[in-house]
Amino acid sequence: MSALVERHVQAYGEEPRVFKAPGRVNLIGEHTDYNDGFVLPTPIDRYLWVTISPREDETVRLQAMDFDERTEHRLSSIRYDKKHLWANYVLGVAHSLIARGYTLGGFDMSIHGDVPLGAGLSSSAALETAVVRALNDTFSLGIDPVEMAYIGKQCENEFVGVQSGIMDQFVSGLGEYGKALFVDCRTNEHSLHDLDPEYSVIILNTMVSREVANSEYNLRKSQCDEATNIIQKEHPDIKALRDVDEEMLLGSWAELPDLIARRARHVVTENRRVLDALEMLSEGDMNGFGDLMYDSHDSLRHDYEVSCMELDVLVDSTLYLKGVLGARMTGAGFGGCTVNLVEKGYVDEFIETVSKRYYNRTEKRLEAYLA
Ligand code: GLA
Repeated sequence: MSALVERHVQAYGEEPRVFKAPGRVNLIGEHTDYNDGFVLPTPIDRYLWVTISPREDETVRLQAMDFDERTEHRLSSIRYDKKHLWANYVLGVAHSLIARGYTLGGFDMSIHGDVPLGAGLSSSAALETAVVRALNDTFSLGIDPVEMAYIGKQCENEFVGVQSGIMDQFVSGLGEYGKALFVDCRTNEHSLHDLDPEYSVIILNTMVSREVANSEYNLRKSQCDEATNIIQKEHPDIKALRDVDEEMLLGSWAELPDLIARRARHVVTENRRVLDALEMLSEGDMNGFGDLMYDSHDSLRHDYEVSCMELDVLVDSTLYLKGVLGARMTGAGFGGCTVNLVEKGYVDEFIETVSKRYYNRTEKRLEAYLA
């Protein structure tokens, strides 16, 4: 990151410290985190880097190398500004820290990343994680990694206005490359699980940007809350869809409007799929794991309705290809990427064939990344 350090020194005249955090791809467990459920993501080998040097006053100066964005703020009057891109995430993290009673000073910061933007690979969570690490260290705040994840989430929820769950910040901060991170999003219990090195996790980017994602995302969350409220009439002890199993859902089915019932069915079955996938991972049953990925996609496509034509074409293009175990959309949906589990020896052939099929059907060129 010498170019970033150089830019920092040029702009601010101080030698900075460097912090980074990775993007992520979710293997299975989609739209479950904000229902207190289970997720199984893994970090990718792409990062957001920030450089930081502290200041004597309460000024915050930011420069984002990738967009030529330069802004200046005062800690006592931080506010969201939709004109800004990266700056909002830095300010949002500072805002959350101050709201939690941490004392910050001013700082100069430079930002650069190679996580593809708007692709559902959590560039914003990576930035939040890198920033919270930088501020934690610079101002000796002593924050543990789980709280760091919640500070990033608070920035998204309260400052940026997306009602996202904890998955992205959790895996950016606590994940390990080459391992799947299982998270119980209610208790924060988490564990790392080796991914079988015989298989590659391939990410395919539809190159469709997720414009409606935020409003649809918040809508899905409120539909899940509606389902919970209705099911609670029959089962007063449940607090979230995490507490509902398939039998309970069937019991309340007639009470639920059709759309809400299907949203709930996705979440309930997806939570079960994550637990099954974890067991298959530990037993080395990667074919079984792959089948669950396809099931997850079907559920996201038909019940949760967060897929899109391009994601479906990409997943369908993998069917019956040699060496492919599973494929599904990953992240919030409405564009972005698919995640694919492919035998090592077939990766090049896989990317070539799927790229051609995708282009023939959509006239779009995909991008492929190795997780
Ligand atoms: C986005 C959110 C996550 C999660 C996924 C869907 O990435 O930031 O919290 O809800 O969508 O699984």
